Amino acid sequence: MECQNLIFLHGFPLNGSAWEPQFEFFKSKYTVMTPDLRGHRQGPNTHGPWMIAHFADDLKQMMANNKMEKAVICGLSMGGYVALHFAKQNPEMVAGLILCDTQADADSNETKDKRYATIQKIQKDGLNSFAQEFSKSVLCENTLTKKPEIQKRVIAMILENKVESVCLNIVALASRRDSNPYLAEFKFPTLVIVGAEDKITPVAASKRLAEGIPNSKLQIIENAGHFSNLEQPDAFNLCLEKFLVGD
Ligand code: MLT
Repeated sequence: MECQNLIFLHGFPLNGSAWEPQFEFFKSKYTVMTPDLRGHRQGPNTHGPWMIAHFADDLKQMMANNKMEKAVICGLSMGGYVALHFAKQNPEMVAGLILCDTQADADSNETKDKRYATIQKIQKDGLNSFAQEFSKSVLCENTLTKKPEIQKRVIAMILENKVESVCLNIVALASRRDSNPYLAEFKFPTLVIVGAEDKITPVAASKRLAEGIPNSKLQIIENAGHFSNLEQPDAFNLCLEKFLVGD
């Protein structure tokens, strides 16, 4: 791929440091950016409510500030929702798209109800128990038992956020649009990656996503859950590297 700009958008409710294995791997060959998204750690923190469109605007602003006309955008989960929205609004700024552990579908009514129950629980109990439960639901069994340091890292990242911002971000997730209607418009090369044991955005959702985008490939990463870049960084980086060199 001609473009040397590589921007990574992290999942909820982590931060740019979740891309540390990718930053280290790609930084010698690419201009790599791993911003904290709105309401996460040091990310922009204006008044809510927030929508995924606002996160896409933040990305456009960041690229303008850095005089980047085009980039390969790699988004994981919530970062993928932002990447999909950005690609729809600004196709001329996208050299390639990497969509990891994400989906084009909007939330079902049941998922929305669960999100609002989570907000109430966080407001009542704080972030500690949420961080424990969330980390167990996103990481696969192999990671939880064999790489406990990853769970610790995920929990630590969650606890770097403010309760209010986490709640605003849950509302942004719940209010996101269905991206399926415009997938067929995407003209750039696209790679869809998913952890084989992702329970949040399962393999079936990634298959639908890849089927909807004309010039796309699907890669399934074994022994990984929802945070495939952290759980299996070597396999993940290899997939990206192949895609970036057009293999
Ligand atoms: C994420 O990892 O960004 C979220 O879990 C996505 C979601 O809940 O839809």
